[in-house]
Amino acid sequence: MTQGRSGKWQVTFRVFRYKRDAGLARYDTFPLEIGPDETVLDGLEKIWAFQDRSLAFRHACHHASCGTCGMRINGVEKLACIVPVHEVARDGGTVLCEPLRSFPLVSDLVVDVGQFFRRLEEANFEIIRIAEPLPQAQEEALTRFENCIECGLCVSACPVAASDELYLGPATLAASWRMKEEPRSANVPRVLANADQEHGCWRCHAAFECSEVCPSNVDPAAAIMALRRELLKRKLFRRSDNAG
Ligand code: SF4
Ligand code: SF4
Ligand code: FES
Repeated sequence: MTQGRSGKWQVTFRVFRYKRDAGLARYDTFPLEIGPDETVLDGLEKIWAFQDRSLAFRHACHHASCGTCGMRINGVEKLACIVPVHEVARDGGTVLCEPLRSFPLVSDLVVDVGQFFRRLEEANFEIIRIAEPLPQAQEEALTRFENCIECGLCVSACPVAASDELYLGPATLAASWRMKEEPRSANVPRVLANADQEHGCWRCHAAFECSEVCPSNVDPAAAIMALRRELLKRKLFRRSDNAG
């Protein structure tokens, strides 16, 4: 980035564009003047306000809690509202914005998250108030899963989700483990059976890309490993019970 006389930075946003009725996808470039504390989402809003009203992107909270502004920024899954432009601009000040992968494309940076939420429902993921005090270690572990903001970054980063559209995916599997760990109101056998299927936790190849990009420290890959251990344990006990 180059700093101009105004104290602002001159950068170029390169943005993926796609409109269903307008044929092929393309990239558009937008020169922008950006303050040192402005985020990628601020930049996109400036483009929308002053250069191109047809640019489509999602956002709501502007502080990493609604999960709607997920996209790939310079090739990495991030929440646009918490990424300062100066952290990602490189090679002469270009910020590349692309939609999340493994979701159906709707328009520009907007993807269809319908299937993602339906899978979370299948995992029986519900927010349950902690009515009784829990041991601190358990509470911390559970709070981590509650912190999922359902942004879909983990799914976009997951190579298995990219090749198997039926894969339950890291967020759903993390939610499944959470429901097993705090089972009030959950049908745990059904949740585990859902995870223990052809497109469930056994498809994961444990490279932890999902955990790398998660903005809420949920660590879905670790939850998947815990799910596997639990399922193996149950299978082994069942086998030894049957043998006895
Ligand atoms: S660890 Fe598993 S779920 Fe996470 S990104 Fe890798 S394959 Fe996907
Ligand atoms: S597990 Fe993390 S990356 Fe995945 S949806 Fe939840 S908050 Fe987003
Ligand atoms: S706008 Fe809500 S998470 Fe970014």
